[in-house]
Amino acid sequence: MAGIADRNPQQGTRKLPFPKGFLWGAATAAHQVEGDNVNNDWWAFEQRPGAIWHGDRSGPACDWWCNAEADFDRMAEMGHNTHRLSVEWSRIEPEEGTFDPAAIARYREMLTGLRRRGVEPMVTLFHFSSPSWLAHQGGWRNPAVVGYFRRFARHTVEQLGDLVKLWCTINEPNVYAAVGYLLGEHAPGAKNPRHCFQVLSHHLQAHAAAYRVIKAMDGSAHVGLVMNIIVFEPLDPGYRASVRAAKLADYAFHDLVFRAIGDGKLRFPLGLGLTRHGPLIDSVDFWGVNYYTRQRVSLQRQFLQPTPGAEVSDSGHSGPYGEIYPEGLYRVLKRVAALRPQGVPIYITENGLPDSDDDQRPRYLLTHLAQMQRAIAEGVDVRGYYHWSFTDNFEWAEGWALRFGLIALDEKTQVRTPRRSAQLYTDIIRANAITPGMVANYAPEVMSDIFP
Ligand code: GAL
Repeated sequence: MAGIADRNPQQGTRKLPFPKGFLWGAATAAHQVEGDNVNNDWWAFEQRPGAIWHGDRSGPACDWWCNAEADFDRMAEMGHNTHRLSVEWSRIEPEEGTFDPAAIARYREMLTGLRRRGVEPMVTLFHFSSPSWLAHQGGWRNPAVVGYFRRFARHTVEQLGDLVKLWCTINEPNVYAAVGYLLGEHAPGAKNPRHCFQVLSHHLQAHAAAYRVIKAMDGSAHVGLVMNIIVFEPLDPGYRASVRAAKLADYAFHDLVFRAIGDGKLRFPLGLGLTRHGPLIDSVDFWGVNYYTRQRVSLQRQFLQPTPGAEVSDSGHSGPYGEIYPEGLYRVLKRVAALRPQGVPIYITENGLPDSDDDQRPRYLLTHLAQMQRAIAEGVDVRGYYHWSFTDNFEWAEGWALRFGLIALDEKTQVRTPRRSAQLYTDIIRANAITPGMVANYAPEVMSDIFP
């Protein structure tokens, strides 16, 4: 059963209701939307031959540094009451220890603009891109980064804190470490397990340092950590080595971090040791959950792959972006709700898929939101949902090839064209529910899954 349906006596129809005051919006990240972030490690990485698919560049991106406001207008028209964005460290602190008041002024203008439109901002302090000065000092491998990040967080929250109630310290420390330092596909393009865990450790220490400094400045601020959560399962459950590999992937990608927030101990796999960091204990007011897909783990064939025969989304440079697995969202929410510290609320800080012709997104949206509603109806405290993403944007190593937007963007002309999913999302937001009429209209093929 996909969701817990309510009878609506007025209409005589069933619907899947969401809690009153639920936050609905989309998520973006500075480097992917602002444009001309020339002073960070990603800009440098983009210049490396072969680093980005088709040789794409972020370039002017979605032009948000000059004009985010036109998209803020669209959000308000579409009924969004929140937006998750990130600030770009290299703009706020372009040289080590030197802060740029003009960058702060622009962010204040953007945040004020969101609030004026009734759109509550959620702000991420670090979403993958580092200032060039930091990269030149070894980036996140340098232990000094913990103090640098604390100072940057303090300055940013001092300057913007009156406009922001919801802060995310770091986006996906697990993806950042794995894709940038183990798979070598994101900046800085390294392939070294030891460095990967070193960076993960610095990320978590920086998170804890930022959490403590923000809470000391403003006890009422809500500060969370955002994790990408993948459902890892063995391709062949009868093959013991694959089962063990899936468990190891799950531990290294998720539980290593979850357990560290629970008891302050980072227990590295592969004999890489244990370190203790007291400030990590209970350093979350909420969990940010980024959920996209399930991955089957195999030691005999390609290490990670979709379930054979499952529906997959558009393909990136190495194959399908991912399997479409709505129940994974329910499973992930139940898992996170059981973590220590107990009772911490959850925001779905990213969920979406690359689908340029929007033939899958309406169904994806409905089935994933039905699974979210199922978890909420069973008592999981989910406070908001942020679709990835508002418009198409610069998709890291995949460049402009993968299209995640509710709104299609022609990055050359900056012309925006809403996809059908944008209207569906607005319908859901306005009703604060999924109704059979919406399913009939947008994805009748999943009617019996959603309203059995
Ligand atoms: C996440 C990341 C986002 C976005 C998304 C889609 O891992 O936080 O920046 O790129 O994946 O792939």
